Amino acid sequence: MEASRPILRVQSGRARAIRADLLVVPVAADAVREALRGLGLAPATMRRAQAADFRGRPDDVFVHNGDRGAVLLVGTGNEASLDAWRKLGARARREAERQGAKRIAAYLGDAIERPETFIAVAEGFLLAGYRFDRYKRERKASVVERLVLVGERAPKPEVWKPALENAAHVCRLVCAARDIVNEPPSVATPAFIAKHAERLAVETPGLKLEVWSGRRLEREGLAGLLAVARGSHEEPRFIQLRYAPAGARKRVALVGKGITFDSGGLSLKPAKSMETMKYDMAGAATVLSAVAAAARLGLPIAVTAYAPATENLPGERAQKPGDVITFMNGKTAEVLNTDAEGRLILADALALAAQAKPDVIVDLATLTGAARVALGASYAAVLGNDQATIDGLIAAGKVVGESLWQLPLAKEYREEIRSPIADVKNVGGPEGGTITAALFLEEFVGDSKWAHLDIAGPAFAERETTLGCKGATAFGVRLLVEWLRALSA
Ligand code: BES
Ligand code: MN
Ligand code: ZN
Repeated sequence: MEASRPILRVQSGRARAIRADLLVVPVAADAVREALRGLGLAPATMRRAQAADFRGRPDDVFVHNGDRGAVLLVGTGNEASLDAWRKLGARARREAERQGAKRIAAYLGDAIERPETFIAVAEGFLLAGYRFDRYKRERKASVVERLVLVGERAPKPEVWKPALENAAHVCRLVCAARDIVNEPPSVATPAFIAKHAERLAVETPGLKLEVWSGRRLEREGLAGLLAVARGSHEEPRFIQLRYAPAGARKRVALVGKGITFDSGGLSLKPAKSMETMKYDMAGAATVLSAVAAAARLGLPIAVTAYAPATENLPGERAQKPGDVITFMNGKTAEVLNTDAEGRLILADALALAAQAKPDVIVDLATLTGAARVALGASYAAVLGNDQATIDGLIAAGKVVGESLWQLPLAKEYREEIRSPIADVKNVGGPEGGTITAALFLEEFVGDSKWAHLDIAGPAFAERETTLGCKGATAFGVRLLVEWLRALSA
């Protein structure tokens, strides 16, 4: 469920004056003695830290349970990166939950002077507190009440208050996206995603929502979405969530794949491969949260999320291998594998987004198993027709700790998706699957600048990660927010 909302604040003070149930202290490599002296902890603690081989290296941790409360020492190595600060916040949260600590403090020393640093600590703290336990009979409510970030020369409230408020907004939207992606597939249907978008639109000033269903989808010519939806009793939806502030400097389109369950359709997946297919709507959840975040933060940039949503099931009316789709931009595709459905629903959405002539289009999709095989769960693949956009996205990912790795949009593989009877077919050969999928999408962006993020790897985690639990990660929300921020600066 959505992370609890602990109070966050920044405060001036010295390490040894802090009173908290749990105090977290970063310790640089080989600076254990200085750190403990600053805390006023007896030499006995130093000996115990030494015995535990705590030396301040990254991933070194040491817990001291004193009479003034618990102290968690976290190694940061020689140079603490934003990633390390985020991790420190996450460690603090996990230790706090373990101990049942209510009031947590982190002593950041000079680092308190840099907003990006204390924001990273707060983010790690908020995101690591996420869990999805609404289907557990026994739920453990978090007792965490507040996190105070302390250093000798804390910035003024005019600086830290809006910074932490914005971070909390973004983290809440990350958790909201995780929530709907983690829901069981028979709960999180296309109508459910539309409802979720409506909730975002109602609670966020500046958002406008449009949802198409039924005949409207036919009239608008969303042939790919309708073709995939034919195999299911659940009605598809096409969701558009808009943020268009007055005086916007740029217009951005974000497109997200919203397959609420991917069975493969008639080209049925084996049982094992289906276990994670409720996550196939991660792209849609992510772009909806990103637009909501842009509105919350009041970024001076217009952003529209396009989220086609449907199940991919092998019902009796399901599309068949060999069928041909005519998309809204007039292109035709032969469907040879109904399990390559993501590109079919994205085709319409990209064509529609391109019609509005935005400055740039970015799509996010759990599109190919090949991307997960190639890059694992920590990297999303990025491909596109505009290197500056790709570079901007990679740079934003580095800032927030969501990694992208570029693959080539290799023109020479275009013949892989040539069809004898239609303009293209929806599958290439066994090789370069992530690239041929992107080449298919490229057919629908016209001359728009465009980048595609294949998030099949990082969209969900098979085990707990630094910033989250097993399951949906909402990878991309923070990346998109950071990218939009940089784009509008
Ligand atoms: N949703 C899957 C891709 C996927 C697989 C995401 C594993 C996350 C983990 C997508 O719709 C799909 O089935 N892709 C096929 C494409 C193939 C038929 C060309 C795949 O990757 O096998
Ligand atoms: Mn599929
Ligand atoms: Zn899929």
